[in-house]
Amino acid sequence: MVGSAIVRRLQAAGYTDLLTATRDEVDLTDAAAVRAYLQAQQPDAVIVAAARVGGIEANRSYPADFLYENLAIAQNCIHGAWQAGVGRLLFLGSSCIYPRKARQPIREEDLLAGPLEQTNEAYAIAKIAGLKLCQYYRQQHGVCYHSAMPTNLYGPGDNYHPQHSHVLPALIRRFHEARAANAPTVTIWGTGLPRREFLHVDDLALACEHLLLLDNPPDWVNVGVGQDLSIRELAELVAEVVGYDGDIRLDPTKPDGTPRKLLDVSLLRSTGWEPGIGLREGLIRTYTDFLERKAEGTLRMV
Ligand SMILES: NC(=O)c1ccc[n+]([C@@H]2O[C@H](COP(=O)([O-])OP(=O)(O)OC[C@H]3O[C@@H](n4cnc5c(N)ncnc54)[C@H](OP(=O)(O)O)[C@@H]3O)[C@@H](O)[C@H]2O)c1
Repeated sequence: MVGSAIVRRLQAAGYTDLLTATRDEVDLTDAAAVRAYLQAQQPDAVIVAAARVGGIEANRSYPADFLYENLAIAQNCIHGAWQAGVGRLLFLGSSCIYPRKARQPIREEDLLAGPLEQTNEAYAIAKIAGLKLCQYYRQQHGVCYHSAMPTNLYGPGDNYHPQHSHVLPALIRRFHEARAANAPTVTIWGTGLPRREFLHVDDLALACEHLLLLDNPPDWVNVGVGQDLSIRELAELVAEVVGYDGDIRLDPTKPDGTPRKLLDVSLLRSTGWEPGIGLREGLIRTYTDFLERKAEGTLRMV
C-alpha cells in the first residue's frame, strides 16, 4: 500500500527514473541479493517501504516471523545501501515503536522510555532497530539516513484479509458484507474504547517526499494527523460511509491492544508539512477504491 502510494506521488511530481522491485526480483531478507541489486542499480536514494505487516492476530500468531523478517529487511536495505554508496535513505517505521503507556500525544523523545505493547512487540523491536541503524549510520558514516514513523494508515491497495488485515480495512469489509447480507448486527473486537489515529496513505506519500527533500531531516519523525477517535466512533463512521444501518455490538473478550495511540506531530509541522485529507473524505475514497477493486476481482486478501 505505502510503496504504491509513494510511486504514484513521485510519478505525479515528475520523477521518471523510479526503481521498484518485487519480492520475486529481490527477496529483501536475502542480504546478498539486496547488495547485488543496489550495487547494480546505484540509486540516488532508497525508500524502505517493505515490511512484514499485519494486525493484532497476525502479530500474535507469527512473532518470530515478524521479528526476523523485519530485522533482516531493515539491516539488509540499510547496510546494502551504505555499501553501494547511496547517500540518502528513508526508512518507514511505525507508531508501534513507542511504549504502551507513553504519555499522549506521543513525542519522538518518548522512544524507549518504557515497555512496548505485548501484542506487537516483535514488530516494534525490528522497527526500532531499523530507526537506530539509520541514526547510527548517519552518525558514524555521514550518510543522510532517516526515518518516518507513520500512524495507522489506510487507503487504496490496503489488505482486506479476514484475519490479517488492520482494523480499518477489516471494518470496511465487514460492514460491506453485512450490508450485502442484510445482517442485523456486526460485532467488533474489544471494548471499542481504544483510541486511534488514521492517516490516508496518499498524505503519507506526500510527507515522505517532503522529508526526502529536507537538507537536514530529523533522525525520526512522527507522521500523523494529530487527532484520534475511539474504535466505536470509527466503526460508526465506517458504517455510515458504507451505508450499513444495523446494530454495532462489541466483544470485550477479544484483545484491545494499546489503549491510546495519538502522535504528537509538532516536529513534522515545524518542518512545514500538514496532512490534507480528512477522515470522512479519505474513507469515502477508500470505499470507492474497495468497490472498484472488488468488481475487477483485484481486491487484496492476502
Ligand atoms: N499499513 C499501516 O497502517 C502502516 C502503519 C504504519 C507504518 N507502516 C509501515 O509502512 C510500510 C509499508 O506498509 P504497507 O501497509 O504498505 O504494507 P504492505 O502493503 O503489506 O506492503 C509491504 C510490502 O513489502 C513487501 N515485502 C515484504 N517482505 C518482503 C521481502 N522479504 N522481500 C521483498 N518484499 C517484501 C511486500 O511484498 P509482497 O506483496 O510480496 O508480500 C509488500 O509489497 C511498512 O514499513 C510498515 O511498517 C504501515
